Amino acid sequence: MDDLKFLFEPEQVAVIGASASRGKIGYSIVENLLENGYKKPIYPINPKAEKILGLTCHKSIASVGGPVDLAVISVPAKLTPQVVRECGEAKVKGVVIITAGFKEIGGEGLKLERELQKIGHQYKMRLVGPNCIGLMDTHTKINASFANGFPEKGNISFISQSGAMVIAILDWSLHAGLGFSRFISLGNKADLSEIEFIKSCAVDPNTKVILVYAEDVTDGEEFIRVCSEASKVKPIVILKSGTSVAGAQAASSHTGALAGSNQAYDTAFRQSGVLRADNMSDLFNMARAFSTQPLPGGNRVAIITNSGGPAIIATDTIEKSGLRMARFGKSTLDQLREKLPAEANIYNPIDVLGDARVDRFQFALKKAFEEDNVDSIIVIHSPIEESEADNTARAILELKDSYPHKPIFAVYMGGRIMATGKEIMAEGGIPTFTFPESAVTALEGMVRYAGFKKDNTKETALPLPQVDHDVVKATFYDVLKDRRVLLLAHESSKVLEAYGIPVNRTYLTTSVEEACSISQQIGFPVVLKVSSPRIAHKSDVGGVELGLHNRREVESAYHRIMERVGRYLPDAPIYGIEVQKLVDDGIEVIIGMSRDVQFGPMIAFGLGGIYVNLLKDVSFRLASALNNRQSIEEMISETKAYTLLKGYRGQKPADIETVIDAIYRTARLAQDFEEITELDINPLRVYSKNAISVDVKMTINLIE
Ligand code: COA
Repeated sequence: MDDLKFLFEPEQVAVIGASASRGKIGYSIVENLLENGYKKPIYPINPKAEKILGLTCHKSIASVGGPVDLAVISVPAKLTPQVVRECGEAKVKGVVIITAGFKEIGGEGLKLERELQKIGHQYKMRLVGPNCIGLMDTHTKINASFANGFPEKGNISFISQSGAMVIAILDWSLHAGLGFSRFISLGNKADLSEIEFIKSCAVDPNTKVILVYAEDVTDGEEFIRVCSEASKVKPIVILKSGTSVAGAQAASSHTGALAGSNQAYDTAFRQSGVLRADNMSDLFNMARAFSTQPLPGGNRVAIITNSGGPAIIATDTIEKSGLRMARFGKSTLDQLREKLPAEANIYNPIDVLGDARVDRFQFALKKAFEEDNVDSIIVIHSPIEESEADNTARAILELKDSYPHKPIFAVYMGGRIMATGKEIMAEGGIPTFTFPESAVTALEGMVRYAGFKKDNTKETALPLPQVDHDVVKATFYDVLKDRRVLLLAHESSKVLEAYGIPVNRTYLTTSVEEACSISQQIGFPVVLKVSSPRIAHKSDVGGVELGLHNRREVESAYHRIMERVGRYLPDAPIYGIEVQKLVDDGIEVIIGMSRDVQFGPMIAFGLGGIYVNLLKDVSFRLASALNNRQSIEEMISETKAYTLLKGYRGQKPADIETVIDAIYRTARLAQDFEEITELDINPLRVYSKNAISVDVKMTINLIE
């Protein structure tokens, strides 16, 4: 059920701030409502006017005297809260606030916007905007906006955070002949955001594809929840702008530096089945594809062309994408060989040659439709003469109807000669492009979405691991009490151990005797390191001694470290000496975590060691997604580290099970403790049996 029906199919609409003066926004709104076929009552509200555009005016919403589903408001900002309150009193279900001058100007505007939120909340009335263009639905014929023009009827919904984008795309679409079901301008998102509108468009029977232009996402967790459900029903394509790297630059860990908010958006989109468009043209190219074509059954593409160059470009683009060039079966090849000229290439791409007339295109296309190894088709036509381009377009359309289950795309290269052919195609519902790359990008989006829908089987969550919250809590308490945010090695090892993540346990000792007896207990050889909150690079100040084989060596190493550190950094507070077991070499991987403001903890996995940032062999998932085996395995398998772990060049396979478990537990830890801001387990050394975290960097924050 559409929770926002009162916005898109209102039984009555009031316009508050309606004006009889042509050129004013309050005039355009009434005119738009009247002119686009909305047949239900429209109530202009204006304290001074008697009639506006032939409709009787009311002094206030209260004087309407009957129910009103939707009110569109265009009075100045200072008057808006009062007017919205009157709407609440009159039991209006939703208001579209066109007025600007709120949050976007800060200060007083922000205060006014908070007031609007409060009023909306108080009366359980939903708000669109403020600072928006309004909304339109071509099927219910509602145009509650001041935009100039109304879109053609279609099946694409466009939700935009930018008002200017709504106006520009609307105008362009009228010229490009692209139809829309809904246009929604979000404005400042004081109440309703992309989340509620995505949900609403997902159940709108007239919408086949949902497009979003977003600068940010309002509530990361809810966004993922809603999109994961909505994308099972309809494709959602989002162009997310403002991809800042500022967050990444500020990060102190490897994971933080690699992650950044752009990565978080990518991960969240992917996780919830949302396709991300890189630019405006990809957004609308994908829209055209989804709007008109059936979903492809797989990624195998056939190309039919009358020119070599463009087909090579298309093939190259396909090879670089997640698509594959189809390989035809023997029967298809035999038939193509028999009917096409000897010079024609019958293998994919099928080159019907520059002198090809309609019949050759038609024949090759029929064979491609009938070939089982082909999931989708791109026809590339380079100009010969206008009539041929038009006739071929008609012939393609005719054939398409006989094969409705395979998507087909056309590339009509050229301008003047190809213009009518393009129009014929577009009208017939075949997405038509001027260059091959755009067709491939649009098709790839469809294939990715089809894959998401197919894979969308529910995974069984792994059982909750046995962990010790209290140890972690107590450790964090001690760290914060010491006015630190970075955990020392003995502290982070305690935290990992409490969560069952294999770690080379670090012991803090404060005397030579203690260091010797701990070494004895854990077994030689051992490593000694200075422990100080002021010393990040211990080796640089002579604070590390490796491979100590007996008590005597430990004793002298202890003194040496103390002496050197005292000399280099006489003022640094020394908490003691850390003792660890010396561990063997193994395959070095990283498990990391950074926290995104919108989407929460994000886990990274990849090749570890000192070259992490250089090699960037890392895959990401939001911690919330890592609650099942398949997601973790998939995450590991996306990296080159996986090739090493499986046993590269005759090496024994490493203990991937332990890595899976360590990732699972790290994700749990990150979700359980909001105070962890960043975490690098780097390296986690993986052996043929077992694995061990050697170096851990964990920072925490005070949580109010
Ligand atoms: N109830 C109903 N109508 C009222 C009213 C009330 N309580 N108080 C005033 N009005 C009427 C006014 O009398 C006026 O009608 P009139 O033309 O008959 O005099 C009408 O509301 C508009 O008020 P006015 O003071 O003339 O404002 P305006 O039309 O110059 O500007 C806005 C109002 C909302 C258009 C303007 O404040 C604004 O925000 N503009 C920017 C909009 C925008 O760009 N939005 C975002 C796009 S992305």
